[in-house]
Amino acid sequence: MAEKIILTGDRPTGKLHVGHYVGSLKRRVELQDSGEFDKIFIMIADAQALTDNADHPEKVRDNIMEVALDYLSVGIDPARSNIFIQSYVTELTELTFYYLNLVTVSRLQRNPTVKAEIQQRNFEASIPVGFFTYPVSQAADITAFRATTVPVGEDQMPMLEQTKEIVHKFNAVYGETLVDPQILLPDNKACLRLPGTDGKAKMSKSLGNCIYLSEPEEEVRKKIMTMFTDPEHLRVEDPGHLEGNTVFTYLDAFCTDAHFAEYLPEYANLDELKAHYQRGGLGDVKVKKFLNNVMQEELAPIRARRREYERRIEDVYEILHEGSRAAQREAAKTLADVKRAMKISYFDMPEFLEEQRKKYAR
Ligand code: TRP
Repeated sequence: MAEKIILTGDRPTGKLHVGHYVGSLKRRVELQDSGEFDKIFIMIADAQALTDNADHPEKVRDNIMEVALDYLSVGIDPARSNIFIQSYVTELTELTFYYLNLVTVSRLQRNPTVKAEIQQRNFEASIPVGFFTYPVSQAADITAFRATTVPVGEDQMPMLEQTKEIVHKFNAVYGETLVDPQILLPDNKACLRLPGTDGKAKMSKSLGNCIYLSEPEEEVRKKIMTMFTDPEHLRVEDPGHLEGNTVFTYLDAFCTDAHFAEYLPEYANLDELKAHYQRGGLGDVKVKKFLNNVMQEELAPIRARRREYERRIEDVYEILHEGSRAAQREAAKTLADVKRAMKISYFDMPEFLEEQRKKYAR
């Protein structure tokens, strides 16, 4: 049977936050623990981070360890999942170079994620070519490891579509070589895109609306207690709205019935709590305190594991180095297949010399 392989990753441009956690990290750990996968590769995408941070290499460097610690602290187990650094695997850039020939400029211009990012970064008239083509390099990341499954957030959907197109095109032109990957999105809707604590659609460091996985308990509590709710819910008696109410979105993402039994036994589940809020008579503070209990319970073991790994940073460094070497060995195999399929593998194909001999024989 064909192997089941996971490849996924993150740009190291900051610490990972609870949006990353519910949107992707938690799922990765579940998939890892399911034992259903033959190989799991988790990539710290430093080369991709440089495509829009070329002037700030220190920012990327400073966040390599942060992201590695975030991975390990949520329960990515280096014995079962291979954590590696993208730039170490130089085969990826070589694959990208060949894939670039299979993609048109207009196709890249239509990529919705790239479009949105160009706007966010005010690139408009001066888009770095490397940034513009990063979806192609992402196709290299995924195919190099023959990934069958790519667990990511919804924002990565266009990247997967682009990858699948490259796979189909490559296989059609050069013969069946690359594996067609499937995206795996979170199954809980609230987890697709967790809003910032201020209710804004996107969590971002500059807006200060993120809760980081590595944040101390007290900071998390403060952020939850000042979270955006329903601006029309002024008095406890007022009926409250759930639409756009960040506290409830977070509860959708984090809480289970067991949390009610433990911290808020007056309600059996989230539906009952929501109904009371909508009727009126339920104050924001009570809901926030509950959310705080729920999130602290989830974050406490993550924080503790992080502290453990921080105390043995040399080991983390070794995990990354060993993981990167192993990843390179995998990617090298795919690159060899690709070059053979493209007929540019001259020195390990006996046919090449044979062809030349025939051609020049007289
Ligand atoms: N684009 C992803 C992000 O912004 C990082 C990434 C790079 C990635 N290559 C990948 C994710 C391949 C999944 C598969 O976080």
